[in-house]
Amino acid sequence: MKPIHLFVPTFRVEECLDEVRECLEKGWPGLGFKTAAFEEAWKAHTGLPYAHFLSSATAGLHLAIRMLKERYRWQDGDEIISTPLTFVSGNHAILYERLRPVFADVDEYLCLDPSSVAERITPRTRAINFVGLGGNTGRLADITRLCRERGLKLILDAAHMTGTRMQGRHVGGEGDVSVFSFHAVKNLPTADAGMICFPDADADAAARRWTWLGIDKDTFARTNSDSSYKWYYDVQHVGFKYHGNSIMAGIGLVSLKYLEQDNAYRRQIADWYDEGLAGAAGIEAVPMSLDCEPARHLYQVQVDRRDDVMVALNQAQIFPGVHYRDNTLYGMYADQPPCPRARRASERIISLPLHVRLDRGDVARVCDTLRSVVRG
Ligand SMILES: Cc1ncc(COP(=O)(O)O)c(C=O)c1O
Repeated sequence: MKPIHLFVPTFRVEECLDEVRECLEKGWPGLGFKTAAFEEAWKAHTGLPYAHFLSSATAGLHLAIRMLKERYRWQDGDEIISTPLTFVSGNHAILYERLRPVFADVDEYLCLDPSSVAERITPRTRAINFVGLGGNTGRLADITRLCRERGLKLILDAAHMTGTRMQGRHVGGEGDVSVFSFHAVKNLPTADAGMICFPDADADAAARRWTWLGIDKDTFARTNSDSSYKWYYDVQHVGFKYHGNSIMAGIGLVSLKYLEQDNAYRRQIADWYDEGLAGAAGIEAVPMSLDCEPARHLYQVQVDRRDDVMVALNQAQIFPGVHYRDNTLYGMYADQPPCPRARRASERIISLPLHVRLDRGDVARVCDTLRSVVRG
């Protein structure tokens, strides 16, 4: 029987190879002409005013927090409210900067619940880290309002949200910074890359220094400058080596070209799942916020006896995933306040296979198998 996997990235190989060949033939695979071209294409596609291409979203989340900490003079031990239902990189990023992640509970969308967030605000709260799980916006509009009312910064972890739109506009401009992932299994696949988007030119310019060790002129700009003093640059502060490279940007340019087509097909697959699972007792699909056209990075359902269901699906050559385990189940986050909804979801969620190589027959097989496993 053909195995059906959770994620299988699709690359338009010949077009990607043309992009990579151009980088290699030019002798310029690093930060440079393609990263600049990809940033421009991304801004044109999303309508976001600024974008800086990175080596990963994890780098971007760290950078976002570091830059906000500097700009607003946050102190060690200040708090950022975050979700326990996420990939750990967003929560680790808070700890990298000696700040304290404080978890709030999730809602039916498995995104941060504004009422739980409001309860966890203290005089030391500085920001909210909102994760658009699976491409969903959840109650992002309410969280944005809450941030404005309480003077908090909003970090949008948009790792799953490439192509998500709210009221017709691509997400990413709601708060103080947004970070997208172009990891191989994401909606816009490269191998590993990300994008950080600030709303203002100063922060965007500062981000470029931060991702290049604090150096005020990148190598590409220096090489292409007319000045004979190409080797002169200033280093204004300790920075990181977080910028993206032209090989990844070339692949990203091709993936961006197909993003809308691929996301439309992802939504089609989600519709097939909705139909195939409609009325199935014991299988609850995680709803999408009515506010958004979701990127549909994930199609999640909740079931009882999840681990047994996963084993049975694996026996039928179906290999779903779990996004995510409640982070308080990890030793290092065990001291967080309880988030009962997140804990319960963490024990019940399954991410069904979702990628553009699936066809209607594959989806029907997953639905039929899941229905019969859950029926017992
Ligand atoms: C919600 C979320 N945030 C951040 C990341 C980190 O992305 P990257 O792999 O690009 O560092 C991921 C990756 O899986 C993620 O799912």
